[in-house]
Amino acid sequence: MEITVAGTGYVGLVTGVCLAEAGHVVTCVDPIQEKIDLLNKGISPIYEPQLDDLISRNKKSGNLFFTTDYKDAYANASVIIIGVGTPENEDGSANLTYLYTVARQIAETAVRDCLVVIKSTVPIGTNDKVEAFMREHVKQGIKVEVAANPEFLAQGTAVRDTLNASRIVIGTESKAAKQLLTEIYQPFQQPILTMGRRSAEMVKYASNDFLALKISFVNDIANLCETVGANIDDVTKGMSMDSRIGDKFLQAGIGYGGSCFPKDTKALHWLSEEEGYVLRTVKAAIEVNEKQKFKLIKKARKDFSSFAGLKVAVLGVTFKPGTDDLREAPSIPNVRLLLNEGAKVHVYDPVGEKNFQKIYPTEVEFTTSIEEALRDADLCFVFTEWPEIKNMPVTKFAENMKTPYVYDGRNCYSLHAAEKAGIHYRSIGRPAVNQKVLQNS
Ligand code: UDX
Repeated sequence: MEITVAGTGYVGLVTGVCLAEAGHVVTCVDPIQEKIDLLNKGISPIYEPQLDDLISRNKKSGNLFFTTDYKDAYANASVIIIGVGTPENEDGSANLTYLYTVARQIAETAVRDCLVVIKSTVPIGTNDKVEAFMREHVKQGIKVEVAANPEFLAQGTAVRDTLNASRIVIGTESKAAKQLLTEIYQPFQQPILTMGRRSAEMVKYASNDFLALKISFVNDIANLCETVGANIDDVTKGMSMDSRIGDKFLQAGIGYGGSCFPKDTKALHWLSEEEGYVLRTVKAAIEVNEKQKFKLIKKARKDFSSFAGLKVAVLGVTFKPGTDDLREAPSIPNVRLLLNEGAKVHVYDPVGEKNFQKIYPTEVEFTTSIEEALRDADLCFVFTEWPEIKNMPVTKFAENMKTPYVYDGRNCYSLHAAEKAGIHYRSIGRPAVNQKVLQNS
């Protein structure tokens, strides 16, 4: 089938490429010429495992195209999937500017009936509104239908998540739209759930917000573990053996970041207030996460009365491993605090350096190895559990640092190993190891 995809961000690009891989002929549209030029050379503008290979392969086999020419791409398309961003407005609501821009462009250029599929995460009721908007703007005699089809991919595993999705959710009351979308997804052999558009929109928010809630709950319990002398790793292990709870998304840390959880929790909370209903659980998840971000710095203040003039090693800056994305990464406000206090910050991240440099172009030293970042450092923060950081021998801290004070926001190391290595080690929801009296006070 011939499919057009609007937007070449995480959702749009991965969707388009995976649909091409499944045998459809896909044209991806984006207004940014630079991105399209890269894609036409077979290079992905985003860091995502497997994506470059799939782009090259499907371009070569002639079923994947990239263009900025939206008029040409939309005019005769029978199925257009919209995967543009819906970022956060200042008040927490979702910004639908890109979505409506594309909807208008499609309506104004379409010369045949088409099905518009909204994959972007959108507030409940948006599909209805976009359909009404497009019907207002489309040429007479042309029929436009809008169906919801939310995306559940996670960054770093986006291709795998799309090719092996746990479910395909289709929101439509129309028999024809349901049939068309079922046909499109047939090669993936994944369970297909059909429901009303508003329910489909809600599935996406409820899923993301539930996962965010799970993380905030665990972080809340972790904080309590610290005061009552329990160990969150043991606690979550014990919890996860109950199959009703499961073992996923129970990793305590310095909170969730990324392009989805922070934005989608705030958007649903905002929407609930608009509806006159307070979504208390989601509100609590947001509040816990805001505080959790600064948990490590608070711990470091127990050992250092000031960070002025100290060399601080930062291991990992991306919001999670497997991506170069820094959106809402806890490392950003923490590094800002350290810099404001006059610390000398030395950063190591295997792929996040380029994006971190855009935020801190001059104030931060970038290093090319863990050892280089740690060398002669007074203290170290671990913000991202990249495998090479998590799996390194904990002895490296003592070997390289001036004073091995380590604050681990992702519980990478065993308490036993930290104790044996003689490092001063504080993590999340676990007892501190080899504590010493306040430095430089
Ligand atoms: C998420 C959802 O997983 C995905 O289904 C949705 O489509 C988009 O949002 P993503 O933001 O890419 O995906 O990353 P995810 O792996 O879910 O992690 C989000 C954040 O939660 C990261 O900062 C991660 O470090 C944190 N996290 C995750 C925890 O703190 N603890 C956990 O147990 C799991």
